[in-house]
Amino acid sequence: MAIRPIRKMGDPVLKSKCSPVKTIDESLERLIQDMADTMYDAPGVGLAAPQIGVNKKVVVYDVGEGLQVLLNPEIIEEGEEEEGAEGCLSVPGEERAIKRATWIKVRGLNRRGEKVEKEFSGFSARVLQHEIDHLQGKLIVQRGRPLPKKEIED
Ligand code: NI
Repeated sequence: MAIRPIRKMGDPVLKSKCSPVKTIDESLERLIQDMADTMYDAPGVGLAAPQIGVNKKVVVYDVGEGLQVLLNPEIIEEGEEEEGAEGCLSVPGEERAIKRATWIKVRGLNRRGEKVEKEFSGFSARVLQHEIDHLQGKLIVQRGRPLPKKEIED
């Protein structure tokens, strides 16, 4: 278990598309642990593998129900869009208004490699769409419009 440095915008790893996870093994489990440690330390509500420099389709998130993991997530259905404020640990100090579907259905694998389908709405739907963007090399700066800069506190 380790907290790893969070890659920031400008790092090429954040721009490249991720490869699907094919093997459930110890190195994947270590990656998941590191991602969770890094996310909780930040703190953040979601983290995608490229944010710690790994180009694999792995997402962790915690929207108040404990740690959740999705491998190779894919949006297979989505509802209407709504604009909302969004930030990113890889783009510090920036907040943007971004349109996201308020409801999505996602297909992927859980950390044991079993197929799962999950539905998300509201905030958790936004978090998942944001993290899935990361797996496609997309950052918030490529979406929506900037909101006035927040005071950055340390
Ligand atoms: Ni992000």
